[in-house]
Amino acid sequence: MNQYEIAVIPGDGIGKEVVPAAIRVIDTLTDIHGGLSFKWTSFPWSCEYYLEHGAMMPEDGIQTLRNFDQIFLGAVGMPNLVPDHVSLWGLLIKIRREMQQSINVRPAKLLNGLASPLRDPEPFDLIVVRENSEGEYSEIGGRMHSGSDEMAIQSAVFTRKGTERAMRYAFDLAKKRRQHVTSATKSNGISHSMPFWDDVFKDVLKDYPDIATTSNHIDALAAFFVMKPHVFDVIVASNLFGDILTDLGGAIMGSIGIAPAANLNVERTLPSMFEPVHGSAPDIAGKGVANPLGQIWTGKLMLDFMGYEDLGKLLLDAIEHVLVSGIKTRDLGGRATTEDVTSAVIEYLKSCG
Ligand code: NAI
Ligand code: MG
Repeated sequence: MNQYEIAVIPGDGIGKEVVPAAIRVIDTLTDIHGGLSFKWTSFPWSCEYYLEHGAMMPEDGIQTLRNFDQIFLGAVGMPNLVPDHVSLWGLLIKIRREMQQSINVRPAKLLNGLASPLRDPEPFDLIVVRENSEGEYSEIGGRMHSGSDEMAIQSAVFTRKGTERAMRYAFDLAKKRRQHVTSATKSNGISHSMPFWDDVFKDVLKDYPDIATTSNHIDALAAFFVMKPHVFDVIVASNLFGDILTDLGGAIMGSIGIAPAANLNVERTLPSMFEPVHGSAPDIAGKGVANPLGQIWTGKLMLDFMGYEDLGKLLLDAIEHVLVSGIKTRDLGGRATTEDVTSAVIEYLKSCG
């Protein structure tokens, strides 16, 4: 029996509703299939914690988290009481940086039972691998002068180590999928960093002779996400390009309430963090109507990363089954509650044995 220690940070708003729901689902799955179990340890770090203690997490919070195998997070944010940059930088970004979670992964898939805003799309199933630690989101630069002389400079930083790490992760992922990697570039317009990106891509692909590759400029790639998302398998992108593409990927699926994400420490020397794409949704918090499927799908990403892909697949099957059966929360046009959807997922998992 493999036992794993998971740090749980439900956070604020609907995070406190969908995280317990997803934990019940995952516990059902591990109870049925045996071989592994999760020991969940919950931390109240959130905006509520901030209002009481003046910080999003205690001084030794990062030290505490280091002892866990993974981190399972809901969402943080109480925009009326705590500025968003405080909640974001005080917890999420701090964890991503301190734990060297250098890759962000977000899948987008046309799910059975869920309407995409695209008209009659062919089935698509893609994953964006986003470099999560450097690139365009660097702290190098500054502002000077004022008035009509005012200027700002921000430098993009691309290291061979960081670029190669993201690309190798994408290729290794493609090996387990449909054997194709697309590189998001812009070497026609950006004359130093993007030709470098292309060079590293060409170097890395030599180690993966069985994987087919395409290189697309980011502007064309964005259009293809709308026109023909079914042609993609794994896409590797810089921090900025990946940020924009992943939002588009979430949008073509149909609802922010179902989109999952993972921040990965690919060296596996420190815990990775699994969190849905959506925020704390203050407009519906406390009403019991939040869609738990994004958090549940996030659980699938955690199982996949830990090597339990067979269990991960069962979770996604369960999500699709419940969508097809029409048990949907309000964001998907239905009337079901968080509890209705969660119970339906659990019943399906039990029925599969
Ligand atoms: P949001 O994702 O919380 O909500 C946007 C809209 O989508 C709302 O109408 C909400 O009701 C709906 N929605 C989101 N998730 C849903 C779900 N699971 N089920 C049903 N409906 C859902 O984004 P918003 O309103 O911009 O941000 C609210 C707070 O969350 C802010 O404080 C923001 O900073 C924070 N936030 C935190 C994130 C995180 O912790 N990773 C990510 C995004 C926002
Ligand atoms: Mg974004």
